[in-house]
Amino acid sequence: MTGPAKDTIFNIDTVEEDFVFNDRVVEVFDDMLDRSIPFYRQVIEAEAQLLNGFLAQGDRVYDLGCATGTTLLEFSRLLEHKRLQFVGIDNSAPMLDKARLKSELYTKQQSLSFLHEDITAFDHPGAGAVIVNYTMQFIRPLQRESFLQRLFHSLRPGGVVLISEKVISHDRRLNREYIDTYYQFKKSRGYSELEIAKKREALENVLIPYSIEENKAMLQKCGFASTETFFQWFNFISLIAIKPE
Ligand SMILES: C[S@@+](CC[C@H](N)C(=O)[O-])C[C@H]1O[C@@H](n2cnc3c(N)ncnc32)[C@H](O)[C@@H]1O
Repeated sequence: MTGPAKDTIFNIDTVEEDFVFNDRVVEVFDDMLDRSIPFYRQVIEAEAQLLNGFLAQGDRVYDLGCATGTTLLEFSRLLEHKRLQFVGIDNSAPMLDKARLKSELYTKQQSLSFLHEDITAFDHPGAGAVIVNYTMQFIRPLQRESFLQRLFHSLRPGGVVLISEKVISHDRRLNREYIDTYYQFKKSRGYSELEIAKKREALENVLIPYSIEENKAMLQKCGFASTETFFQWFNFISLIAIKPE
């Protein structure tokens, strides 16, 4: 099998509109994630380890904003012994087409299914875990708390939510340093300065990050008594939040 097509979306003169998850993005999406998200694979592995500890045999796991299904495919491999049911949700039809294709290629159709839904209307009671990787940052700030409330109500007692996000620091100097470090990372992955600047502009009004403290406060307000950061690389973090038993 050949690898994913290379992301050259912002390597051309024409793109000036806001970022959207359309067919052109889906085509190069796996390459885009591998080159734009620090420690992408390691975060999935860390999440699998946490799920292994928190989930019971046969539990249902939802991946919200599942995109092309990479995370769930990895979980189904790493957590095969748990016989979990994996459900990916996304509102981009081309992403889901690709996710279904990949799950067929890896013959994982038995344990993986995909739903075309708006995750802000999430309502799937009895969930053992909900994963939200690099997606809550795209939900409008005003809707975020009620979104987390929905996750809380859908989780079974003792269930967990795992959230990975880009974050900001309210210390302006530190924030600048973190962003610069991230741009160095993207340059080291082969993106040009122009590509980095154009993508930043396209994401300006679309991707709105909160600080770690704001995310934790929101989770606590929704009833998640215990929240911890289990991964951080400069302005990228992953959090676990546990619904009390
Ligand atoms: C950055 S990608 C997520 C990457 C993926 N979680 C991963 O780690 O491989 C964001 C995804 O969220 C989806 N999305 C954004 N807003 C959504 C919404 N309101 N409902 C459902 N999906 C949404 C997009 O279509 C896109 O596939």
